[in-house]
Amino acid sequence: MRVLFVVSEAYPLVKTGGLGDVGGALPAALAGLGAEVRLLLPGYPEARARLAGAADEGSLGDLLGLGEARLLGGEMPGSGLRVWLVHFPPLYERPGGPYLDPAGREWADNHLRFALLARAGAHLAAAGGGFGFAPDVVHANDWQSGLLPAYLKLGGRTRPGSVFTVHNMQFPGLFAAEVLGAIGLPPESFAIDGVEFYGRISFLKAGLAYADRLTTVSPTYAEEIQRPAGGGGLAGLVAKRAGVLTGLVNGVDYRIWDPAKDRLIARRYGPRRLALKAENKRALQREMGLAPEPATPLVGLVSRLTEQKGVDLMLAALPRLLGLGCQLATLGSGEARFETELAAAAAAHPGRVAVHTAYDEALAHRIQAGADICLVPSRFEPCGLVQMYALRYGTVPVVHRTGGLADTVVEVGENGKGTGFLFETPTVEALVGAVARALACYRQARRWPSIQRRGMRQDFGWGRTAHKYMEIYRQLA
Ligand code: ADP
Ligand code: GLC
Repeated sequence: MRVLFVVSEAYPLVKTGGLGDVGGALPAALAGLGAEVRLLLPGYPEARARLAGAADEGSLGDLLGLGEARLLGGEMPGSGLRVWLVHFPPLYERPGGPYLDPAGREWADNHLRFALLARAGAHLAAAGGGFGFAPDVVHANDWQSGLLPAYLKLGGRTRPGSVFTVHNMQFPGLFAAEVLGAIGLPPESFAIDGVEFYGRISFLKAGLAYADRLTTVSPTYAEEIQRPAGGGGLAGLVAKRAGVLTGLVNGVDYRIWDPAKDRLIARRYGPRRLALKAENKRALQREMGLAPEPATPLVGLVSRLTEQKGVDLMLAALPRLLGLGCQLATLGSGEARFETELAAAAAAHPGRVAVHTAYDEALAHRIQAGADICLVPSRFEPCGLVQMYALRYGTVPVVHRTGGLADTVVEVGENGKGTGFLFETPTVEALVGAVARALACYRQARRWPSIQRRGMRQDFGWGRTAHKYMEIYRQLA
């Protein structure tokens, strides 16, 4: 099975969130099952710098009338997976992130940056485009590669089959109707059953409309996006295509996220050496300037700071959370208003609230290792990886029952089974109630470790999910 996996981020080459974790880990898991995988990404400078043994493999031609792009080949550090980068400096060679410029604004030419990625994918899909790898299946992800299935279908190609995975419906990839020609789509595709979305072009809709098979990252989210509350204006299209849609929960790459092997944390531990977790708590309190109190429950929050993640909810709940006797350690970056409010909360509660507003991969590990509770108050969450990481680190998740959170955390409840605490509505009241339930268990010296250990022994590895993707590929090939 030859799979061309096209994605806009893949750890450790480039990552802004969970998509990067999946882009790095899922292809490696597929390769582990015997698939021959090529990963295709834009040639961002940091990705080129981190790619092992990067070498020019030849010309992709002039795919969008902007000039010749080249294909760089190399290996993923760590997994050794074969990676291709689309090398086109006029679009990719600049400081800033994959989607945003250094000032935090979307790149004005994002339609070209990601049309070129998808176009290169379509070129390689056509019998390998002269690069000796003819894929049986192409797998595109989110709006950034949503045009790929459209290029294949509108180009009259039925082979290779295409899979399109939705990681987040909130990003429709909208661009002005006028760019249709520039991104190489025919006029007839600008229609209700094509890429048109309220007078504009949606790259996400392109993927949803033209891919042979659709997947999303949890069964509950697969249901949610068929209704307007979860799928927005595209819910109707998703519902219409429900017959080819599958919800598959993401996995955890335990080579990277396992306290028994993690070199980024103060002290390694596992379910049988759980007492050592306390050293990580002590180190985290010291590092983040929290009062050095071993018995005080420490709540961690690692998140993009956006409306989706319910950061405002957490901020509104903060006085009551502190009233329950918690400390709070947050790591996040994103919308300026949330960064400002978090910084103000930290200033108002020295020693009790610690805030680091940055993107810091290593600190994310240390918070997972050092906190007692991992709070995920997301309004919606397609899958969510942080709560699964928390489970492995013996950090008990408190989450809103939505999307993948609902599929991966089981309420502890009265009978003492379960792995975490869920709240049913995204309100301050419900959030505080769930944290209070968690704290009631935290204070029971024998009960808490048994909850932690049950979480640590859950298996959210990629194995099961990768098998299911392979099954979908086989049906297509
Ligand atoms: P999403 O993809 O919606 O952001 P996920 O829970 O799927 O949510 O994945 C988030 C990933 O990004 C995790 O690997 C998490 O550790 C990481 N992350 C989020 N914010 C930060 C940050 N400020 N610094 C470091 N890592 C972060
Ligand atoms: C998106 C979602 C998140 C999911 C990740 C990887 O960023 O917001 O819930 O875990 O993609 O699929």
